[in-house]
Amino acid sequence: MKGIILAGGTGSRLYPLTKVTNKHLLPVYDKPMICYPLDTLVSAGIDDILIVSGRGHVGHFLELLGSGSEMGIRLSYEIQEGAGGIAEALGLANRWSDGDDIAVILGDNIFEDKIKESVNSFDSGAKIFLKSVADPQRFGVAEVDGDRIIGIEEKPKAPKSDLAVTGLYLYENSVFDIIKTLKPSGRGELEITDVNNAYVGKEQMKFSVLDGFWSDAGTFESLLRAGMMVKESREKRN
Ligand code: G1P
Repeated sequence: MKGIILAGGTGSRLYPLTKVTNKHLLPVYDKPMICYPLDTLVSAGIDDILIVSGRGHVGHFLELLGSGSEMGIRLSYEIQEGAGGIAEALGLANRWSDGDDIAVILGDNIFEDKIKESVNSFDSGAKIFLKSVADPQRFGVAEVDGDRIIGIEEKPKAPKSDLAVTGLYLYENSVFDIIKTLKPSGRGELEITDVNNAYVGKEQMKFSVLDGFWSDAGTFESLLRAGMMVKESREKRN
């Protein structure tokens, strides 16, 4: 399986921190943000990873991470020229993926859980990772019945559960055919939730509920919380 880190977007919710610096390079405790999702993929045994970012920032990721050889992996870089959303950014990885299954992670998502088992046991369709949260209306929210996903709603005003869909997704390569059929949402973006609902509709979506902490880091509150969580987890281990 290959890995893709999506690190585009303007980071407008973190302005002026993001006036000059890309959101995914801001500090989360003692490392640049992107190092955490990168570690989630690498610790799962994924060693061929594409970073998708905007034109003005891709060089900064290259300076920070280079070829990946220091980490024993191979890094590639792709430019998202527009701001057409997560699924548009993912679509840019089609040729690079070369028919392989892919693990996709959002560059501002910090996970404590390791995903090696899920990656190793992935066979077909798609898999998402859910986390019970206090503020589900900020996220994609999954409605589940036993071990079945019934549907996912993007930022619902009245969430049907407290299970946020985190920014980590495993897909077979058919995901790129699904992306080609998407239409922009109300906010003018190709939505990852529409991709996921396509697999739900085909009864090909699996899920796990995460045990460890998870946070996005795209707002002042969540950026601070992510840093605190990393610090606490580091202290617990030492
Ligand atoms: C995106 C997805 C959402 C998901 C979230 C996780 O939202 O659209 O489904 O729950 O990432 O961080 P964003 O925060 O980019 O608007």
